[in-house]
Amino acid sequence: MRTPIMAGNWKMNCDNEQARELAAAIAQNAGDMQDCGVILCPPATALTMVQAAIEGTNIGLAAQNMFWEEKGAYTGELSGPMLRSCGCKYVIIGHSERRGRFGSVADDFTAELQKIFGDSDASVNRKIKAALSYGLTPIVCGGELLAERRAGQTDSVVKGQVQAAIAGLSAEQISPIICAYEPVWAIGTGEVCDAGEANRVIGLIRETLAEAVGSAIAEQIRILYGGSVKPDNVRGLMEAPEIDGGLVGGASLKADAFCELIAVAAQVGE
Ligand code: 13P
Repeated sequence: MRTPIMAGNWKMNCDNEQARELAAAIAQNAGDMQDCGVILCPPATALTMVQAAIEGTNIGLAAQNMFWEEKGAYTGELSGPMLRSCGCKYVIIGHSERRGRFGSVADDFTAELQKIFGDSDASVNRKIKAALSYGLTPIVCGGELLAERRAGQTDSVVKGQVQAAIAGLSAEQISPIICAYEPVWAIGTGEVCDAGEANRVIGLIRETLAEAVGSAIAEQIRILYGGSVKPDNVRGLMEAPEIDGGLVGGASLKADAFCELIAVAAQVGE
């Protein structure tokens, strides 16, 4: 039995005061949650603030990205040890937005953003290795674009992303990793992936992991679904046997909605 996880990816939202309020409200409602892991992923500027608000609770802190070098002349980047010193236990790696793959942004703007947010399969792999070496648990993301889905490439894209992400890692290194399947077309669009289809693709991710680490370890790895998870669609997703929780954007910015998601995941996971 895998304990579900509900992770709130706040993306580029919340100044420090808003972050403190949101984290405090979630901590008050779900801080002692046992049946569902809760992870907050605020912007880097608010990590310390949020850590103070969740201190002494069961809630974990995650960064949204990191660079693989330990320190040095990398203006604007953040290292694993820096994130650890803010209280992070987790770090999101390879979010589609960091790969420059967007579901709700016009194509010409996407082309520009791809140059700025340039994570590739290779850099995702390096970041995962670095995160693990600094004691951070990576939350590794992948998912297909709408065009890829329409072209029948969903399985090959997702499988390829997973294989590239874990390339060169031992079973021992892979076993603590958390994965997230986030179909790009479902992110921030309100168009959730059908629970049966999300379950199928997550099953494929688990099979791909099993090829590398064996099925006993793959069965223990938590694989989340992300993309327009909301209180009104969360139950069907959480009831799907392969889906071990959610990576939530928009609905994680409202304490009530996010706590509802946590409560459903905990209830279904029991
Ligand atoms: P939304 O829940 O806003 O669709 O975002 C999903 C996501 O990208 C979480 O990482």
